[in-house]
Amino acid sequence: MTDRPRRFVIAVTGASGALYAARTMAALLERGCRLDVVVSEYGRRLLVEELGPEARAERLHDYLVERYGTSVGSGSITLHSNRDLGSTLASGGNRCEAMVIVPCSMKTLAGVAHGLSQTLIERAADVMLKERRRLIVVPRETPMSLPDLRNMVACAEAGAMVLPAMPAFYQKPETLEDLGAFIAGKILGALGIEHALFPPWGET
Ligand SMILES: Cc1cc2nc3c(=O)[nH]c(=O)nc-3n(C[C@H](O)[C@H](O)[C@H](O)COP(=O)(O)O)c2cc1C
Repeated sequence: MTDRPRRFVIAVTGASGALYAARTMAALLERGCRLDVVVSEYGRRLLVEELGPEARAERLHDYLVERYGTSVGSGSITLHSNRDLGSTLASGGNRCEAMVIVPCSMKTLAGVAHGLSQTLIERAADVMLKERRRLIVVPRETPMSLPDLRNMVACAEAGAMVLPAMPAFYQKPETLEDLGAFIAGKILGALGIEHALFPPWGET
């Protein structure tokens, strides 16, 4: 009997760092994962502004194959509308084991922290929390306001992992790709997936 592919929800919101989303999705797809992807309106804008028009949400999988190679074709992407609160992702019955919001804007962070469920991204995140599944939020903002900081605490208290988009420099990054790989590697590690996206500390 063949193993079922692992399934994850990936949400892309309107914070800078579209590269982090791209590298994370590519790394999961290379491992044959099935991704349910939701991109907010401003997430769509960021994908195009930071990666180019060829990275628009509707052709993300093709873009990732072109950028990271044919092995990315091993997995699959299903794109969901952020307005569709009737999506399978809005129900606790969905089969995704975890969700990553990468990058996560302060606005979506606030919505998750307060359980608003006004968009599919917020609702899917709330589903992860209520079902006690893993939710990883990757906030990017600087500096942060007190409400931003409180919202991160609220997310952590609710059971989410707050994994800020803060690349390290001990692995001697030389390219933007190295910075993207570092955050993607942190996310894969948090999902319990082995990777070689950056060398472990002490092995550089
Ligand atoms: C080019 C651009 C860059 C932005 N970068 C950030 C950012 O890094 N962090 C953030 O919290 N908001 C950022 N914003 C603002 C958010 O996109 C805005 O608050 C939006 O309402 C977020 O909505 P969403 O979470 O539904 O995507 C940016 C907006 C634009 C247009």
